[in-house]
Amino acid sequence: MNNKVIIDVLQGVARNKTPIWLMRQAGRYLPEYRSVRGGISKFLDLCYNSELSSIVTLQPIHRFGFDAAIIFADILILPHSLGIDVRFENGDGPTLETTRSEQELKKLKISNSNWQFERIWETVSLVKKNLPQHTTLIGFAGAPWTVATYMLEGKTGSSSNFKFSNNIAKTKPEFLDRMVDLIIEQTIYYLLGQIDAGAEVIQIFDSWAGILDYEEYKRFVEEPTKRLVFELKKLRPQIPIICFPRGIDKTLEEYMTNVNPDAISLGSNITMNHAKKLKESVVVQGNLDPIILTKDKEQIKNAVENILTNLAGKNFIFNLGHGILPETPIENVEFLVDLVRHYEKNSCNII
Ligand code: CP3
Repeated sequence: MNNKVIIDVLQGVARNKTPIWLMRQAGRYLPEYRSVRGGISKFLDLCYNSELSSIVTLQPIHRFGFDAAIIFADILILPHSLGIDVRFENGDGPTLETTRSEQELKKLKISNSNWQFERIWETVSLVKKNLPQHTTLIGFAGAPWTVATYMLEGKTGSSSNFKFSNNIAKTKPEFLDRMVDLIIEQTIYYLLGQIDAGAEVIQIFDSWAGILDYEEYKRFVEEPTKRLVFELKKLRPQIPIICFPRGIDKTLEEYMTNVNPDAISLGSNITMNHAKKLKESVVVQGNLDPIILTKDKEQIKNAVENILTNLAGKNFIFNLGHGILPETPIENVEFLVDLVRHYEKNSCNII
């Protein structure tokens, strides 16, 4: 047994406690985050300020005692490290210089070290020094496909309807293969650096895994993530990997078999029955709908109880089905953590 519950759960060791952390747990719903953020004009400047990023990473740990801290950074650090202009304009989501041709692809700079990575790695080591002993440190990156959609669209995927990503997946698949290969190579350097700086678990965010047809999903979502996980496992076999292929449902079993991560993070679209079935063979993480945390206590209690009665016990990490919403009241997060903390394994009701 380890003093870190999440590591135990990821290694299949049963613990009498359901671990909890929340995606995007460091962020705008926290007044202490808004206060740090208010002192810096550009979001990326905060990501690259290791001192402040390490403080922000630890804010939700100090306030709620979550079982894991996730490094404060963004999946778009990766395109930025390739030499792409990335901007977060206020409230509008990110904007990137697009990469849609061979010529543009050739300009990108693959490197195993660059100032962007160095800053994030420094954040990892600062957080590691100040982390409570029982808290697990999670490093992360975007999955190749999700990072590619941002590079192709140039702005937040959903607001662009994925016009270019879908079109290029169909009309220039070899070009997209090359782009994905390049992203994989750079992501491996990035994640190895995070691991070597102290990250104990890696989560791979594939926010747009669910937007492709089956054949394209296999080629651009499943196969590249499989390669990424395989390479990381080969180089750092002791590090558990959690994959979050948001929006896929019918292909989850195939995804698990082929990608073979240590755990799967489920979106809120996945039913309890499906999650229960998956949990027989793999660790599952999730999947409270973030909107529930903006509702009243009764609704929160019902939804959390439903998840715990179905999934608590071996092979389960409590989380949301997507990132926490900025409008979430702090007291609702406190209420959620209390519910999960007081839930005893094998009991059917929340005490
Ligand atoms: O606490 C944490 O989870 C750590 C940090 C983290 C951020 N982004 C900080 C952030 C993590 C893990 C991410 C992942 C991320 N970033 C994803 C994958 C997960 C998902 O939500 O689907 C994606 C797609 C991105 C790209 C991104 N970053 C978008 C689309 C946006 C704009 C939308 C928004 O929420 O504002 C961001 C900005 C961002 N990343 C913020 C934070 C705290 C808000 C910016 C701010 O504070 O000004």
